[in-house]
Amino acid sequence: MTKFLDDRAVAERVLQHIRQHSTDVGEEIWREPVANYRSAARLTRELAVLRRTPTPFCPSAALPDAGSYVAREAAGTPLLVVRGEDRRVRAFRNACRHRGTELASGAGCAKAFVCPYHGWTYRLDGRLQHIPHAAGFPGVDPKEHGLTAVAAEEQHGLVFVTQATAADEPAPWASLPELIAPDQQLLNSGAAELEVNWKIYLEGFLEGYHIRSTHPQSFYPYGYDNLTLVEHSGRHSRVTFPFRRIEKLADVPPAERRVDGLLTYVYHLFPNALVTVLSHHTNLVVLEPLSLTRTRLVTYALTNRGGGAQSAETAKRDAAFVNNTGAAEDLAIVLAIQRSLGSGANEVFTFGAFEAAIAHFHGNLHRALAEDG
Ligand code: FES
Ligand SMILES: [Fe+2]
Repeated sequence: MTKFLDDRAVAERVLQHIRQHSTDVGEEIWREPVANYRSAARLTRELAVLRRTPTPFCPSAALPDAGSYVAREAAGTPLLVVRGEDRRVRAFRNACRHRGTELASGAGCAKAFVCPYHGWTYRLDGRLQHIPHAAGFPGVDPKEHGLTAVAAEEQHGLVFVTQATAADEPAPWASLPELIAPDQQLLNSGAAELEVNWKIYLEGFLEGYHIRSTHPQSFYPYGYDNLTLVEHSGRHSRVTFPFRRIEKLADVPPAERRVDGLLTYVYHLFPNALVTVLSHHTNLVVLEPLSLTRTRLVTYALTNRGGGAQSAETAKRDAAFVNNTGAAEDLAIVLAIQRSLGSGANEVFTFGAFEAAIAHFHGNLHRALAEDG
């Protein structure tokens, strides 16, 4: 399987593009029917793909201790993900086995999960530990009333969950490098709901063709007009956005070149997650479709790898700059696309040779949906 280039090969290819005023180009032009952003039936099938694909739920750093938990909805299902006494991360459907009350919300650290309704109590590994007034439940076997487990796997600094099993789903981490290293500190997490289809929002991250027009004062002065590397690995993609300061590497022997702080990596983890590695901070963004026109962004910000002691403050400044400038510009664009979706202007959206990561995403989504028949 193709793997992403290492940093030195990335530097070499970027410098070559700078010299030649070129960029990576894809082989196909992709035409995506606008109806696919507006069909409730298709969204239902997309959610089924999300549920059977291992998708990032949170960074490992969000579950530092035994008992650390994160509860949120993923692809419409309330899940509770918790680190056990044995350090293993487990995921459960967040519903009491008595009458279904959610057991936890948000994030925190617990010794056990006590249902707020009647007090059924579950251990961190999901076993039912206690039924108050158990005499009222003759014949109810606690062993058969543990929390309902969902597959969870910790890989590359991320916790992946898979809600439904599919026969031949490839393990998505096989084609990924380590994305978040153990030394990266969690700075904050958050959630926001936006009036935009999840795929429209995603597409905004996956090409550099828009940098000059959309970000004339924020990103473009530090970057290039339409200069990106676009790589695919399995169903994932990585788009590399170099900063102009990378040109200083031309004077550094290839073996000694380091790209940290000289470019932005955007990893798209099929289907609905992004890991963005910026100058001084790293984000995990998970896009949760709530409806055809509404998406919840679940975000985690971390320091960069090897950041050292000063990195948290620098990372916060970097995050504030990006969020207040470029990210706001991107948001205005995707909301404007969403507003015009029903205008009838376009039967299809045409993604060109510079938008190959978007074509790769849609191609893989089409194939995943086709497997459903
Ligand atoms: S619903 Fe949880 S204890 Fe009754
Ligand atoms: Fe942008």
